[in-house]
Amino acid sequence: MKILVVGGGGREHALAWKLAQSKDVEEVIVAPGNAGTALEPKVRNAPVAAEDIDALLKLAKEEHVGLTVIGPEAPLAAGIVDRFWNSGLRCFGPRKQAARLESSKTFAKEFMVRHRIPTAHHASFTDVEEAQAYLEEVGAPIVVKADGLAAGKGVVVAHTLREAHAAVTDMLSERSFGDAGARVVIEEFLVGEEASFIAMVGVDGAILPLATSQDHKARDDGDQGPNTGGMGAYSPAPVVTDAIAQRVMNEVLRPVVEGLRAEGVRYTGFLYAGLMIGPDGTPKVLEFNCRFGDPETQPILFRLKTGLLQLIDAALDGKLGKTKVEWDPRPAVGVVMAAGGYPGDYRKGDEITGLPTAASPTSKVFHAGTGVDASGTIVTRGGRVLCVVGTGDTVQAAQSEAYRVVKQVTFKDALYRRDIAYRAIARGP
Ligand code: AMP
Ligand code: GLY
Repeated sequence: MKILVVGGGGREHALAWKLAQSKDVEEVIVAPGNAGTALEPKVRNAPVAAEDIDALLKLAKEEHVGLTVIGPEAPLAAGIVDRFWNSGLRCFGPRKQAARLESSKTFAKEFMVRHRIPTAHHASFTDVEEAQAYLEEVGAPIVVKADGLAAGKGVVVAHTLREAHAAVTDMLSERSFGDAGARVVIEEFLVGEEASFIAMVGVDGAILPLATSQDHKARDDGDQGPNTGGMGAYSPAPVVTDAIAQRVMNEVLRPVVEGLRAEGVRYTGFLYAGLMIGPDGTPKVLEFNCRFGDPETQPILFRLKTGLLQLIDAALDGKLGKTKVEWDPRPAVGVVMAAGGYPGDYRKGDEITGLPTAASPTSKVFHAGTGVDASGTIVTRGGRVLCVVGTGDTVQAAQSEAYRVVKQVTFKDALYRRDIAYRAIARGP
């Protein structure tokens, strides 16, 4: 079977790499892919943008693709899954209505209130003066979010009222996030430790939780600096004990899938709950993503021993409830190497050197914003350039392995955090 993976980031490199390992897979086509997917055995890139649904449909038909897996949120929010199924093509991801869990924060918040899913208190506004009056009423610290999709950057955690007012003015009056910020959600500041809880949901509503993970959203060491799409992630996340994972299934994931069903919406695909785990172990939802996380996918799939195609087929055939999933017990740590300036303006087109040439059982360099230039050189093409994953018997060993490889890879003004997985390491082996 041929598989099409839609997207071109680190998540899609990991998805394609893992899918290509299945003996039932003849070839994985990635649209548009990156230099990493171009070089992967059994994987080929097609120069089609992840948002160009018409061209993706045409590609899937021409190539007789048996399954399409959608990586990023934009095509999901635009209804790519509806379009594929309507054309008789198998496709893994939520339909447009279900993807609103991510594409509209207001929808997600109201849905959680309707179904008593634990989350921060909130109010949502389109009017600047009303938003500012509300800020004066509730005070700081407070969180201001653009309602629509803003690539993980439309969130301001304001420690003072001044910062909060500035964020509201920026989004509603200056439209710094365009239409995504035409409505803002202002929410209670939650205290605790964050974790990513990602599951697969089958057509019958069965939920298979994947290994836990933790992202690092701030750009700089010690969680300082601006918010980004994610600077590194590791799996498993010890903050999510088995008891907490059980609570997340009972208090968050099952109510989400059942709540959507009660409203006439079926959710199929990866479902990601970004959680704040309170000091007493209570999980509260920060956000939903209707896809696999990036960079969480990279360390999670590095640990997955079961075939990914087998899991996706089980989800689409209504057999996920009976499916067992096997993980490498060793932790994996993924360090993102970004282009200097990210998440602001950054350089492109710089040569990347020192990339490993042979496969290793203890590390893997997943590409994100990379490309091959006219002379065949691998160059930077995006903000997050690579995600280097390492594994070892302890988190510390996995971290050392990841940084050992990071230090061999160079490009101009490379930027990366030196402390990925510090919370897990602080908890001890
Ligand atoms: P989001 O994109 O909604 O997950 O927000 C991005 C980041 O902002 C999160 O990963 C948290 O670090 C932080 N954040 C978002 N909402 C809250 C909240 N209600 N309380 C505390 N921190 C938050
Ligand atoms: N790593 C966070 C996300 O994928 O949204």
